[in-house]
Amino acid sequence: MKKLVINGGKKLSGEIKISGAKNSVVALIPAAILSDEEVTLYNVPDISDTKALIDIIELLEGKVEYTDETMKIDTRRIKNKVIPENLSQKLRASYYFMGALLSKYKYAEMYFPGGCNIGSRPIDFHINGFKRMGATVEIEGNKYIIKAKKLKGADIYLDFASVGATINLMLAAVKANGTTNIYNAAKEPEIVNIATLLNNMGAKITGAGTSEIKIIGVDKLSSGVVDVIPDRVEAGTYIIMGALLGNDLSINNIIEEHLDALFSKLKEMGVEMYIKSNKVLISKPKELKASNIKTQVFPGFPTDLGQPISVLLTQAKGMSLFEETIYENRYGHIKYLQKMGAEIRLADRVAMIQGPSPLTGCDVEATDLRAGAAMVIAGLLAKGTTKISKIDHILRGYENIVEKLQAVGADITIVDE
Ligand code: EPU
Repeated sequence: MKKLVINGGKKLSGEIKISGAKNSVVALIPAAILSDEEVTLYNVPDISDTKALIDIIELLEGKVEYTDETMKIDTRRIKNKVIPENLSQKLRASYYFMGALLSKYKYAEMYFPGGCNIGSRPIDFHINGFKRMGATVEIEGNKYIIKAKKLKGADIYLDFASVGATINLMLAAVKANGTTNIYNAAKEPEIVNIATLLNNMGAKITGAGTSEIKIIGVDKLSSGVVDVIPDRVEAGTYIIMGALLGNDLSINNIIEEHLDALFSKLKEMGVEMYIKSNKVLISKPKELKASNIKTQVFPGFPTDLGQPISVLLTQAKGMSLFEETIYENRYGHIKYLQKMGAEIRLADRVAMIQGPSPLTGCDVEATDLRAGAAMVIAGLLAKGTTKISKIDHILRGYENIVEKLQAVGADITIVDE
């Protein structure tokens, strides 16, 4: 089993270049099958979620060329097939093939998606939206059969601004007859990225990035090109490391507006940053002030950075409150932070964090992707050696994390034991 071994306490200096966003690329790849020609994606991160999606495209007999961050997906000979459980279970985003296959073939047959165990994560908004567009949905155990004679545009109101449902319904609607309006749509930057590709392919989508998205169905989508946006969660993770251990650590290739909520919290906590030309330069401040953090949908504080920033709160002076509001079970890292010496009390869904408390390295687990990121941050900070198991979760979402951290002075390696 692969583990990450970190000898903590090293200062971090130099530059880290942020890769393309996981949560964009995992939707852009399924979106590509809507083309009848070829789609090119630039700045594609080499993470295991990308590989899992390539496997699905190849199962459908699409051709993928992936070199030096550029992915060309040729969908001319693509066929509709059942996506088996072993592939759909590898990641959450396999569910984007529901919307994409339904849109293209009016028939999708696949199994329930996988992904991090951070809550119940139902897909009822996706299913209800497909039904509103005229599809029928049969559920046999874990398998979904979604079909329609014709997909028709519809007015769809989401009970919650779900990222996955917004994207999946956009995918289904681009080739439907007539106009679809998605109300209370998610506004995350990844949604704009997906809409940009679809519009480049010939779709007619307006309003992406706002809470009302309008999609006028078209008959055909052809070739398209897009740059995957920089990963704001990867950037945030390294920025938090900079606030704890940075000595002029520069995080490059960021989009400042995507990180506003994080920057605002860090400033409140006393972290000084110098932001210019898609870079942020950050150093550890003399003292961190306690702060309260409640995760929200964009542009609020992102749930994906909740676990990483809770490590920073353990080093802030006074009592900080941390509340995760999107998922009911995104606290897997807390018991390991406690094991490392953090003073945290979890009552219902609020973590009360008393700081600063010194952390000591020990054996910990990455219970999910962002809990794993939190463990890496804690390990870098802790005195002594931290050994993290279940690191497959981390490698699903952070490209070359070991190499990137080693290059700025961290003592981190992967061992096989
Ligand atoms: N929800 C429902 N029904 C649905 C869909 C969602 O009840 O049909 C609930 C979920 O259970 C959750 C909330 O709505 O409580 C938000 O879920 P959302 O659909 O927005 O999340 P997602 O699409 O499953 C994506 C990212 C997550 C990220 C969230 C929020 C992908 C593959 N995943 O998940 O990323 O946390 O949006 O921004 O894009 C991660 O990167 O670590 C990660 C978990």
